[in-house]
Amino acid sequence: MQTTTLQITKCESSKIDQVNFDKLPFGEIFTDHMFICDYKNGAWSNPRIQPYQPLQIAPSARVFHYGQAIFEGMKAYKDDEGGVWLFRPDQNYERINKSAERMAMPPLPKEYFFEGLHELLRLDQEWIKPGIGNTLYVRPFMIASQAGIIASAAEEFTFMIICAPAQSYFTGSVSVKIEEHYSRAANGGFGYAKAAGNYAGQFYPTQLAKQEGFQQVVWTDATEHKYIEEAGTMNIFVRLKDTLVTCPVSDRILDGVTRKSLLQMAEDMGIKTEVRPIAVSELVKGIASGEMTELFGAGTAAVVSPISGFSYEGKRYELPELSKDSYALRLKNQLMNIQYNRSEDPHGWREQV
Ligand code: COI
Repeated sequence: MQTTTLQITKCESSKIDQVNFDKLPFGEIFTDHMFICDYKNGAWSNPRIQPYQPLQIAPSARVFHYGQAIFEGMKAYKDDEGGVWLFRPDQNYERINKSAERMAMPPLPKEYFFEGLHELLRLDQEWIKPGIGNTLYVRPFMIASQAGIIASAAEEFTFMIICAPAQSYFTGSVSVKIEEHYSRAANGGFGYAKAAGNYAGQFYPTQLAKQEGFQQVVWTDATEHKYIEEAGTMNIFVRLKDTLVTCPVSDRILDGVTRKSLLQMAEDMGIKTEVRPIAVSELVKGIASGEMTELFGAGTAAVVSPISGFSYEGKRYELPELSKDSYALRLKNQLMNIQYNRSEDPHGWREQV
């Protein structure tokens, strides 16, 4: 740590025996401990690990009024020998600081992020179960904790890391609504940041989509609603003939760690990839001609989630059943083999805790 050493207060007794690890609702059960540190007078200080517990925070804190809040999503994995691994945590560290800059929040020192993370995972490692599909979802986040409702950037912040044992994010197949009315992000906005408001703004259109029987919305460009962007909890990939296509990241689209890893792995496997704007009309034509055989989402929580169908302009389109040699399944298996220390790691993405 930069200024102070990490203080650790362990919980008196673990809650782990009360948890059914075979049936985990995503993000509802948290481990015994949390990491927390404070930003005041222009510096981060007081890094500590303490029992997971409610916070004491002024009702006037800026986060409640102006949404000055950002987060990350990561996972820890356990291999068959009990080793604990993170996947590309450097990417999450870089991205939280990009989000922080855009939301007028202070950058987090590397030591705070990594020492806090590693120590927390060592302490709560019993919560990470071995076996493909079992993970510990790790949620680093920063909030404007300064009291006072003046509408300007806060000068006091709190950074925390909490962890939730997790299995799959989606239960069952995923069908999506391609959005034609609402927008998630616009040029010059903060769509690329993992800012709380980007998620809150999606809830209402997603509720409407759920009422129509869809699990997720695929956002389109805010100007014409003609090009797909991302799904809010995942980036989107399409297989057109033998080419795997995804749209470029921009100031409207999150630079997903899973997305960039899949692109690299696809290239390693000899799969042709294209990063270019994808018109919704291409998807519609691709289904009609049989040239579009796969549509899937990619994200930390979602991993690789095949999409069974989509709707656009009031019509529903179904994707064919996934074959065992589909790109989605091949990439998902390869990704998980790297994450769970079951295969070579040619790009040095794994980090042992
Ligand atoms: C993640 O994949 O980690 C995300 O941040 C999506 C989340 C909102 C569940």
